[in-house]
Amino acid sequence: MTRNDNDSWDIKTSVGATALFVAAARGLAARQPQALAVDEFAEVFCRAAGDEWAELFTADPERTKQHPLRSADFGSLFQAFQAGRTRYFDDYLRSATEAGVRQVVILAAGLDSRAYRLPWADGTVIYELDRQPVLEFKRAVLDDAGATTTAERHEVAVDLRDDWATALRDNGFDPSLPTAWLVEGLVIYLTPADQGQLFDTLNALSAPGSWLGIEEMATIDSDVFSAMTTPSADPHSYDRGEGARWAGLIYNDRKTQAVQSFTPQGWTGAAIGLVDYLRSHGRTVPGGGAAVGHFDPSLMSLATLRKPTSANARP
Ligand SMILES: C[S@@+](CC[C@H](N)C(=O)[O-])C[C@H]1O[C@@H](n2cnc3c(N)ncnc32)[C@H](O)[C@@H]1O
Repeated sequence: MTRNDNDSWDIKTSVGATALFVAAARGLAARQPQALAVDEFAEVFCRAAGDEWAELFTADPERTKQHPLRSADFGSLFQAFQAGRTRYFDDYLRSATEAGVRQVVILAAGLDSRAYRLPWADGTVIYELDRQPVLEFKRAVLDDAGATTTAERHEVAVDLRDDWATALRDNGFDPSLPTAWLVEGLVIYLTPADQGQLFDTLNALSAPGSWLGIEEMATIDSDVFSAMTTPSADPHSYDRGEGARWAGLIYNDRKTQAVQSFTPQGWTGAAIGLVDYLRSHGRTVPGGGAAVGHFDPSLMSLATLRKPTSANARP
C-alpha cells in the first residue's frame, strides 16, 4: 500500500487497521500466564471488529494457529513487544500522575483503553486524538460494552498531519498546565517533516513540568525494508505473506529521535531499547533479541522525557 499526504482510513483500512493489529496482539498477550500487561478491552475491540480479529479470540484455536499474531516466531515476539510497551507506558502514566500531572494527551489513541482501565487521580482530564472513524468505532464498542471511564475523557477527531493544536485547545486543553503526552505506535506512520512539526507543536504546548512518553523505531536497513514491502508468495514466511501489507504503511526515512529532538529544548530523559526493557522485567525475548523475519526488536525503543519546572529550568 502506498501512503500519501492526504490519505485517510477507518478502523479496518490502511493505518486504521494497525490499531486493530496491535490491539489483537495485546489481547493475545493478556491471555498468557504471568502477563506483563493486561488490557482487558483489547479483546473486546477485536470481538466487535469481526473477521480475523474476532476469530483470534472466538474460533477454535486450531483454525487460527496460522495467523501471524499466533505464530511461535513472529507472533510470540510481537505479543511480547506489545505487552512490553503497554506496561512501559502504563507505568509512565502512573509516574506522571504521582508527580501531580492531571492533564493527559494521547496522540493517535487508536484503541488505547487507558482512560477506562488505569486508576487516575481525581481531576484528571484525558484528550484522545485520532481520526474520526477510528474514534467512532472505539466509542461505539465501549458504549455497547457498558464501559465507564476512570477519568474525564475528551475525543479530538483530527489528522495529526493537520492543525491538531487548535482542535486540542478548542476541546478544552489548557497549555498553561503540565501535560503527560503519550506517543505510542504513531511516529513510524509520519514523514520526517510531519514528525518534526508534531514535536515542535508538542514542545510549544508543554508547560514546565510536562512529561513525554514515546515509542520509536530506528530506520530499517534499506535492503531489508525493500524486502519487507515486497509481498511474499511463501505461505511459510514468518508473517505468512502478510508483512508487506503492514510494512507499506511505514515511512522508513531517517528521523531524529525524541531524546535528540527534545534535549536541546531543555527536556531531560532517556530511551531504553525494547529488548533491554523486556529483560529488565525478567522476560525471555522470543528470538533472543534478534530479528524474526523482518521484525527486528532491537530497532524499537521506549523513552520518557520531562520538561523541567521553571524552578529547575536551565539558565
Ligand atoms: C498502531 S496504531 C496505535 C494506536 C495506539 N496508540 C496503540 O498503541 O494501541 C496507530 C494509530 O495511529 C493513528 N494515526 C496514524 N497516523 C495518524 C494521523 N496522521 N492522524 C491521526 N491519527 C493517526 C491511526 O489511526 C491508529 O489509530
